[in-house]
Amino acid sequence: MALHRLTRITIGVPNVAETASYYAEFGLSKAPGSPGDEGHTFSTGDGGEQLRLVPTERRRLVELRVGADDPDDIERVAASLSRLDIASERTPAGVRTYDPGTEVTVVVEVAGRIEQADTPAPPCNTPGHIARPDTRAPGVMRENRVQPRKLGHVVLGSLDQAGSQRLFTEGLGFKISDTVPGLAAFMRCSTDHHNVLVQQAPLAFLHHTSWQVNDIDEVGRGATMMLEKDPARHVWGLGRHHVGSNFFWYLRDPAGNFSEYYSDLDCIVDDALWTPRTWEGLRGLYNWGPPPPPSFLAPEDLAGLMTGVHGGR
Ligand SMILES: [Fe+2]
Repeated sequence: MALHRLTRITIGVPNVAETASYYAEFGLSKAPGSPGDEGHTFSTGDGGEQLRLVPTERRRLVELRVGADDPDDIERVAASLSRLDIASERTPAGVRTYDPGTEVTVVVEVAGRIEQADTPAPPCNTPGHIARPDTRAPGVMRENRVQPRKLGHVVLGSLDQAGSQRLFTEGLGFKISDTVPGLAAFMRCSTDHHNVLVQQAPLAFLHHTSWQVNDIDEVGRGATMMLEKDPARHVWGLGRHHVGSNFFWYLRDPAGNFSEYYSDLDCIVDDALWTPRTWEGLRGLYNWGPPPPPSFLAPEDLAGLMTGVHGGR
């Protein structure tokens, strides 16, 4: 039938134990992982095992796995890659390929769809409409740890944005939701507005991963808890993106990767009813919130990462 979600990502970092502690504090649950697996595996509330951390010399996204409904999808992906002259190989449940622009291995595999319990927005008082009489807001009464419900998207720098975009769209079957001309395309493999965004960059690197939480209070509470532990983790937030509409707050893990809490992302259920648009300038980045810091646009460790690459390390 179709692609339907991101299943799991593998991030390589030089400091696995320290980075694993960060993602545990971020709200992901440590999972047992596979026998003999020396990496660290984490689960989300609804998506199962969605993050693996493995040791690498420099931080990067090693692998991205995409769920498809049935073997017909795998056949279609393999045929499309072949038409594009992109090498691929079969895995027990899918097909594996490699994107040289982002230096990421991509696996499309048959996997179950994500099932999420209906999570209605809490009652909200608005002018002329008292939806929550005589009661404090649920968002200020919560004491639970914030736990991301699922992995939402990844954003990657590519040495060849056009080539990476071609692999994801024409090769794998991602759809384009919106475009920032000359920079990036927001691509989806599910009803989420975007699951993968690839932007042109001077080197292949992982910009950020993004994790769904229930609502804006969880975005704020999650980030606040992370910053109480270490204020230097702050990157950018709280704000609302214009493209995709989601509330966001970005934090930095100990390896330099950004991780985003998000809520209320646009969802595209009927492709025919969504009109992709192009966005220029700051609108491509955000609708409201503090202005993006320069380190969001160009992470501070990029120069060092490039030196490492060019030095052959
Ligand atoms: Fe994001």
